Amino acid sequence: MKRDLDQAVSNAARMSDYLSVRHGHEKSENFRNFILSSEWLQFKQAYTRMRYRHIGSRYNSQIKDDSTIVDISLRIANNKYIPGKRKIVRTYDDGETLASIMAEDKKDLRRMDSLVRLECLKSGIKANSFYVLYDYETLKPESLAAWRRAKDADYHSQQFGYNLNFFLHTYQLVVPSINAVVIYRMRYYLVSSLMMLILTGLAFVFLFRMMRSQRLYTQARIAFTGNMTHELKTPVAVIEAALDAITRYELTRDPAKLENYLDISKTEVQRLNLIIDKVLNLDQLDNGEIRLRSELYDVQQGLESVVSSMRLRNDHKDATIKYFPAEEPCFVDGDPLHLTNVFYNLVDNALKYSGASAMIIIDCRVENDMVRVSIKDNGPGIPRMYRDRIFERFFRIQEEPDQHNVKGSGLGLHYVKQIITQHGGRVEVSSEPGNGSNFTVILPSYHEI
Ligand SMILES: Nc1ncnc2c1ncn2[C@@H]1O[C@H](COP(=O)(O)OP(=O)(O)OP(=O)(O)O)[C@@H](O)[C@H]1O
Ligand SMILES: [Mg+2]
Repeated sequence: MKRDLDQAVSNAARMSDYLSVRHGHEKSENFRNFILSSEWLQFKQAYTRMRYRHIGSRYNSQIKDDSTIVDISLRIANNKYIPGKRKIVRTYDDGETLASIMAEDKKDLRRMDSLVRLECLKSGIKANSFYVLYDYETLKPESLAAWRRAKDADYHSQQFGYNLNFFLHTYQLVVPSINAVVIYRMRYYLVSSLMMLILTGLAFVFLFRMMRSQRLYTQARIAFTGNMTHELKTPVAVIEAALDAITRYELTRDPAKLENYLDISKTEVQRLNLIIDKVLNLDQLDNGEIRLRSELYDVQQGLESVVSSMRLRNDHKDATIKYFPAEEPCFVDGDPLHLTNVFYNLVDNALKYSGASAMIIIDCRVENDMVRVSIKDNGPGIPRMYRDRIFERFFRIQEEPDQHNVKGSGLGLHYVKQIITQHGGRVEVSSEPGNGSNFTVILPSYHEI
């Protein structure tokens, strides 16, 4: 950055020198090349610097017909330089006065400053900057205020004379803060690196999430296989035992017992059928293959049938199921089979997870053209962090090791959500851990067209 600024100021100084003496040399390519060359600038700077070391100097240029003579002479004093004794001896040209020289010099200074700005712009530097002017002879700054301001600045250029006529002042460019300039110049790199960083970060997060969900999915699948095996094996084992008993004890001779065993087998076969249906349903549901029928469905009737079949189930003898039907009719437009399954699943969960002394309260009402069915239990509740996840396929909340395990496939609520969503409704869960859960199914009520 500093090198670029140096370059800009020295380019401007050369151009300013050239413009100050161009008059009469407009056509001379050689003259132009000479004054604009970096050698000349170096030479001039060296010459300017030398004057302070007890060396007197003289600079003069004349235009002849075919060339320009530049006269530079140095006088090295034999003795130490005595301050105050040195002074410029200037020969005025025709019509020149001190005042006119000062005015010309001011013009040249303005030109130098705008050249510097132009050069900065050319090299893409947009800096907040100012200049400090020094007396050519005494080296003292012209404005103390500017000089003080320049003291803590990040960048000071060399001092350059800006014309070859008067040698009154030198010019120094000052940039107070270079960081801002550097940042501004690097803005495209910065923005693109930032974008790269963000993109990399996003890709990482995406990959991480994918890996995590893949892992969870694998875990859930393994758990599902375990649970399913258990669920399938139990009815098969029961049927096997029943058939075994029938042949071993020749129960054909005892019709009452035989019927009992056959009944047990029948129920178990039904259970097997249900499980198989559930798995098949799930695949069809996820592939969008299930075509839901659209019929007038009486929610109250559906709930009643679910409740009465649940009450008959002998594995929940101590459970209480309270059902509060609505006073007004609760009709929705939907598939009777699947909607009944949905209520079955929810009541089944409530019974399963609330243990022996389960207390289930079911109610149904119509509110704002929506039928709301709520199924409330007094079970262990569902921690907040799982409230969305229980609707995922295969997801089951890990049981505490000391609690007795409730078996399940983790498909029930996934099915519930899919079916209800396809009916244009939604499922809400509210729960206080340790204090039961409340599942609410909200469906648009039936409208006659
Ligand atoms: N009423 C409830 N009380 C407490 N936890 C519940 C309740 N309902 C569901 N859960 C939790 O949500 C999980 C997911 O339920 P879901 O019905 O999808 O699967 P499941 O009951 O384990 O298996 P399935 O219903 O397929 O036999 C359950 O494992 C259980 O941890
Ligand atoms: Mg369930």
